[in-house]
Amino acid sequence: MNYAISYVSTVASGISENEIENLLKLTSSNNNQVKITGILLYSNGNFFQVLEGEKTMVTDLFEKIQQDKRHYNLIPIFKKEIEGQKFDTYENLFLSLDAAYNREELDYYKSHVEKLDPSIRNSVNYVLENFS
Ligand SMILES: Cc1cc2nc3c(=O)[nH]c(=O)nc-3n(C[C@H](O)[C@H](O)[C@H](O)COP(=O)(O)O)c2cc1C
Repeated sequence: MNYAISYVSTVASGISENEIENLLKLTSSNNNQVKITGILLYSNGNFFQVLEGEKTMVTDLFEKIQQDKRHYNLIPIFKKEIEGQKFDTYENLFLSLDAAYNREELDYYKSHVEKLDPSIRNSVNYVLENFS
């Protein structure tokens, strides 16, 4: 059974941009290894994450992420069963305040969202539009 979880959260105070970049690198390599796919976006003090994969793996990872002291105020957006896993890889993106600088990256990111499960794509696009 495949499952998808998405949430937004706020970065804890005292966490540097360097630490966030390291976290993004770690999540891509961890998730690609265990075949969890999705996206993690950091922008202006907030995280937005989508996790897709085998249900137990995704819920176990989410439990761990919820306990992580590097963020707080975690608000789930959806938790639902999905037909299949549509992402090939896990993608992370660090958006600076200067969105124009990251235009290309943001466009690439949006094209990645198009590969999401159709049942969650609209919610993800909605959040993305309002995120950056
Ligand atoms: C916003 C946020 C998102 C995270 N996303 C992931 C993730 O997708 N995959 C992952 O392995 N760890 C993620 N982590 C880190 C986990 O909370 C945890 O530190 C990491 O999995 C290492 O756990 P371990 O020490 O038990 O191996 C995230 C942390 C934060 C703050």
